[in-house]
Amino acid sequence: MMIPDFAQKPIEEPSKWLQRWIQEAEKEGEVEPTAMALSTIGGEGRPRTRFVLCKGVSAHGVRFFTNLESAKGVEISVNKHSSIAFHWPKMNRQVRAQGTLEAVPDDEADEYFLTRKRLSRVGAWASKQSRPLKAREELLSSVKHYSEMFGDDIPRPPHWSGFRLIPDYWEFWQGHDGRLHDRWAIHQSDGNWVSWRLYP
Ligand SMILES: Cc1cc2nc3c(=O)[nH]c(=O)nc-3n(C[C@H](O)[C@H](O)[C@H](O)COP(=O)(O)O)c2cc1C
Repeated sequence: MMIPDFAQKPIEEPSKWLQRWIQEAEKEGEVEPTAMALSTIGGEGRPRTRFVLCKGVSAHGVRFFTNLESAKGVEISVNKHSSIAFHWPKMNRQVRAQGTLEAVPDDEADEYFLTRKRLSRVGAWASKQSRPLKAREELLSSVKHYSEMFGDDIPRPPHWSGFRLIPDYWEFWQGHDGRLHDRWAIHQSDGNWVSWRLYP
């Protein structure tokens, strides 16, 4: 990456910046303030994108959870490169980040799984995410089956866990009139964050 000679230390660390913008989006009443587009690399190097919910941002990365046997789960097991993008229309803001994905440890996934609503926990067992489903009734009967099987004590399925995107490049974007937006990059170089503006 070409770092311009006028690059400077960012005013705020990128993960803190993202945390603050998510909080501000929540306060502003954005409908899905934690929704992010997640791109992975599929077969033949073709990118594939879908939305997931961000479930935690820290200096260690941006966390989400999913079915490990889903299309994205299989793609990630082959290629760890990924990118994400958030958009908050009311705030006229966007954040993008790219880097590599790291699996979250089992105890962390267990802890998060327990915070999910009962139906979501049952659903994690019942849904063979991304695989063909002949009829909706099949999904509903699978939900019934697992619901009766587990009662109230629903463990995390072995095929359900999380990942953290560990970005080495971020872009923040604040929209302004006349498309004269503020846009800046934050890149990791030799263990330090450096930042520079980009033409919008
Ligand atoms: C707003 C929104 C949030 C979503 N959050 C998640 C999520 O956190 N995890 C997940 O696996 N799928 C989530 N989904 C469903 C995914 O977009 C996608 O349909 C699913 O994960 C299968 O993707 P794949 O076939 O590429 O693996 C969400 C969809 C929307 C619209």
